[in-house]
Amino acid sequence: MRSAALFAMKEDNLNIPRHVAVIMDGNGRWAKRRFMPRTFGHNAGMNTMIAMARTAKKLGVQYLTVYALSTENLSRPQEELEGLYNLFRKYFTKNVKDLYAEGAAVRVIGDITALPDDVQSLINDGVANSPADARFFVVLALNYGARAEITRAVNAAISRGERVEEGDISSLLDTRGMPDPDLIIRTGGELRLSNFLLWQAAYSEFYFTDVLFPDFNAKEFEKAIAAYSKRNRRFGKI
Ligand code: FPP
Repeated sequence: MRSAALFAMKEDNLNIPRHVAVIMDGNGRWAKRRFMPRTFGHNAGMNTMIAMARTAKKLGVQYLTVYALSTENLSRPQEELEGLYNLFRKYFTKNVKDLYAEGAAVRVIGDITALPDDVQSLINDGVANSPADARFFVVLALNYGARAEITRAVNAAISRGERVEEGDISSLLDTRGMPDPDLIIRTGGELRLSNFLLWQAAYSEFYFTDVLFPDFNAKEFEKAIAAYSKRNRRFGKI
């Protein structure tokens, strides 16, 4: 069901970003406040992420990219990583089916070869089985780091042995074929990019909020979209 706020936004003819990317920070603190293990926070975060994808799709966003595991996160304690891998297992066996049913697809950016073999297979199947005619994409950044992504692209360009233009780099990144993010949201109060979409963020608008990710509900997402809608994007022009 659509919320009143959501209807109002459509009526107001708000400028809806085509691509929204989200740094989902604050799961650990959310869990700690409840005297629960960090995995409890990631679990709540996954539910928030699924709800956010629904809201984004309803509003007319076409790409929702979420930072679910950074290259740096791989050095977290094994117990926390196992908790995250279990969430990925659950997402790719169960939740993706709901996405497909809604005509949406899942894509992945990052180097998944560092993940457990069974998780890799589930991810590859999840991407391959996505509807070919999808109009909405959930893009999961898994073992993603922008510097590593750019380095991979540059090496691929070098192996071609030709001089490259900006567009060539874009077409060698994991995000190839996707529009650059119009809006990057970071929850959890920190004001940094943390190695997320460095190349693609050249002209993105930013929205930072203290809300911890598990509490980033539809109303909070709509607030971010409303803030974006008021921005005057000049792309370096006057
Ligand atoms: C950062 O918060 C969040 C993560 C490292 C993981 C985010 C993952 C999810 C929301 C689940 C995604 C699920 C799928 C299926 C893709 P933090 O733990 O660093 O929080 P803190 O700063 O409060 O410690």
